[in-house]
This record gives sequence, structure tokens and C-alpha cells, in this order.
Amino acid sequence: MTEERAASHQDHLDRLESAYQRLAEKHGYDSILIYSGAPRVHYADDQAATFRSYAHFLHWVPLPGLSHSWLWIRPGKKPVLWLHAPEDFWHLSPEVPDAPWVSRFDIRLTTETLPPALTGGRLAVLGDVSAHVAQRLGGEPNPPALVLALDELRVRKTAYEIDCIGEANRLALAGHQAAYTAFVAGAAELDIQLAYLGASRQRESDVPYQNIVGLNIHAGVLHYQHYDLRSPASYKSLLVDAGRSVSGYASDITRTWSGRDADPRFNALIDSLKAMQQRLIEDIRPGVSFVAVHHLMHQYLGQLLAEHGLVRCSADAAVDTGITRAFCPHGLGHLLGLQVHDVGGRVSPDGHPLPAPETDPALRLTRELETGMVVTVEPGLYFIRLLLDPLRETATGRHIEWEQVDALSGHGGIRIEDNILVTAEGHENLTRID
Ligand code: GLY
Ligand code: MN
Ligand code: MN
Repeated sequence: MTEERAASHQDHLDRLESAYQRLAEKHGYDSILIYSGAPRVHYADDQAATFRSYAHFLHWVPLPGLSHSWLWIRPGKKPVLWLHAPEDFWHLSPEVPDAPWVSRFDIRLTTETLPPALTGGRLAVLGDVSAHVAQRLGGEPNPPALVLALDELRVRKTAYEIDCIGEANRLALAGHQAAYTAFVAGAAELDIQLAYLGASRQRESDVPYQNIVGLNIHAGVLHYQHYDLRSPASYKSLLVDAGRSVSGYASDITRTWSGRDADPRFNALIDSLKAMQQRLIEDIRPGVSFVAVHHLMHQYLGQLLAEHGLVRCSADAAVDTGITRAFCPHGLGHLLGLQVHDVGGRVSPDGHPLPAPETDPALRLTRELETGMVVTVEPGLYFIRLLLDPLRETATGRHIEWEQVDALSGHGGIRIEDNILVTAEGHENLTRID
């Protein structure tokens, strides 16, 4: 951690201490115990799944892989951290890091997987704990109103958190550059993935979400989950949606490139979508409804489809008939933080549900933008047979230029995604840093 980030981390902890004090009082708790969680072991096996500590634990303690550990927060007292350090010669046991933040905690190394009996009034126990364990600890598991309020606390980022997301962007961009270089050299998806991981300095189990590395038609599979071992016969396109985590904070970046065998019409579509994404970002500022910017994305998509001859109708008609949604079924973006799809996106600041519009069930952010939020802006345009084919024989389908669709569908699709900080003046793009 740089000195500057260490200093801002102290301010971050100050904010957490006072907010937890206020919320504990408001919700009637004398203390709050947060469990880091533990890896899940595969059924009938001795191997565990990839593990990441519970985000509300990480909000305080920047140790993303720490398991079986507990944080006890009591208003006005130093938080106690029972840091699980088993006597284990098979694995490297955790140690107390040499970092300024440790002085803010009363750290107790323990070989136990549960904290000692706690005294001192009404206790909330947060995290992946059963009612049985919470009861044994004398607490209430995950009280919904308190959890909702603590989620809300994560919506507006501190300077420390923004700095972490900024570094996560810088590292991920090095990965994207390496992925592009591998693509141009004729690599297979797996080699592109390995180039990405190497340049962004991370092992695969540490990525904030599974990297999407799609060549050609795979670029149109929204969450494509494989890495082909062989190079394809032709290189039309590459879509890479991949991030990096820094002290638990994620970046989430997508780039799409055309290859040496691309149809020039696909190059032109990429250029237009890039320009459209930057236009959408211009609208990001406090007070703006993200749903309204999402609707604007569909309006721009309608224009783009008409300009590129993919539809014969007006932009308005492409939106009204659902054509733009068949070309882009996902939302414009989401909150970003300790989780790639961070908490609080569909809830008002006072805890009321803000469901996605019926026409846009995949939209993960439905609230008004506020200073300190970090959001993604990620418009896309895809040739997804499952969505487009049912339109072929319909009245709506008569507006679509199927020859164009068929000629370009082997390119899969396009998504361009940046991470945007909402500032008092408008926004700062954390991804475009050159
Ligand atoms: N990488 C997942 C997303 O963009 O939301
Ligand atoms: Mn993404
Ligand atoms: Mn995203």
C-alpha cells in the first residue's frame, strides 16, 4: 500500500467507525460481529472452491483471502479482529501484515474457528453464518434492516476505495494491452487469457469475476465461460471483459477489437459503439437517473442500427418494437466496488426497492447517481441467434436487414466498458487514464 493510500485508509476507517456507531444505535445493537467466511469444500472431496472474504468484512480489513476470521465492532472501542492463523504445516498460515492499518485493530491471532463467548448486550452477527452458529454466539444472524443500511454505506466510495479501484483499472489495462498483442499474434483464447493474467499480475482464482475472452462468435456470448485451447481458422473479432482486484476492490473493463479477417462493416460498428459509449458517459453526473441514461443507450443504439443499415426503420421504431433490446439485452451498467456487481443498485437511499423496468429486467442500477458512486458504462451490440431468430418471420423482423445480420454474426458482438466515478462536477473516467 502506498503512503498516500495508507493515509486515506485511515480516513476510510474513521468513516466506518462513526457510521457503524450511528447504525448500531439506530438499529438497537450494542455490537456487530462480522465473519470473513470460509471456502466451500466440493461434495465428497477434499478440494475447496475459490474463496473471497465477505465484502462487509473486507470493507474494514483489506485481506481478501482471509478465512475463518471474525471482526467485532463495538461503538467507542477499538475493533477486535480474531485473525485465524492455524498451526498448519501443509499451508502457509496468515500473519499480521506490516501496515499502518493494523494499529486500528486489536488483533488476536487464533487457531480457533469461532470467537470466544462475547458479552455486552444485543449482538448482530453478519456474514455466511447459520442461525445455529449465530445463536451459539449469542447474536442475531444478518438482521435485514441493518444489512441494508450497511450495504448503503458501500454505495458512495471513500478516497481510499476510489484509489484502489483506480489501481485495479491500471493493472487491468496492462492485461488488456497484452491480450490485444496476443490476439494480433494469432493466439488461442487460453493464451490470450494467460497473457492477460500475466500482464495484470494475478492468478486466475483472484480475478474479481471470470474473465470473458471470446474470439469470433464467442464475442456474442454475454458471459462466455470457456477458453479454447486451439487458435481459430480465422480472426474476425475479440471481446475481452476482464478486471483486477486491489485490496478487494474490482475493476471491470471490456474492450472489443476486430481481427485480420474482419468485415470492414464490423470495424465501423466498433468505432460507432466506442463513440456512443463516450457520449453516454458525458451524461454521468449527480442527480441523473441511471435508468434515463440506460434508455438513452437504446435511443443511440436505434440510431446506430439505422446508420449502419442493420435496420430500415427509424431509431424510435427500433426502440419501440424491441429491436434494440434484441441486439443488446443487458443493462447499461452497475455499481462497482468490493463486488463487481456491487450492493445497493436497486434500492433507494432510504431502503425502498427500486426494481428494474419490465422492459429491462437485467438492469442492475435503477437509482439516481450520487457523488462518490463508481459505475460501469457498458453499451453493447451483439448478434445473438437466440434473440434475433424469433424475429425473422414477424412484422418487427421486416425492419431488420437480415443479410447484414447474417454477414456480421460470425463476429459475435461488441461491448465497450469503462469505470466511471461520479464527482460533484460530473464524472471522472477511471479507465481512460492515458
Ligand atoms: N463483467 C461483468 C459485467 O460487465 O457486468
Ligand atoms: Mn464487464
Ligand atoms: Mn460490468
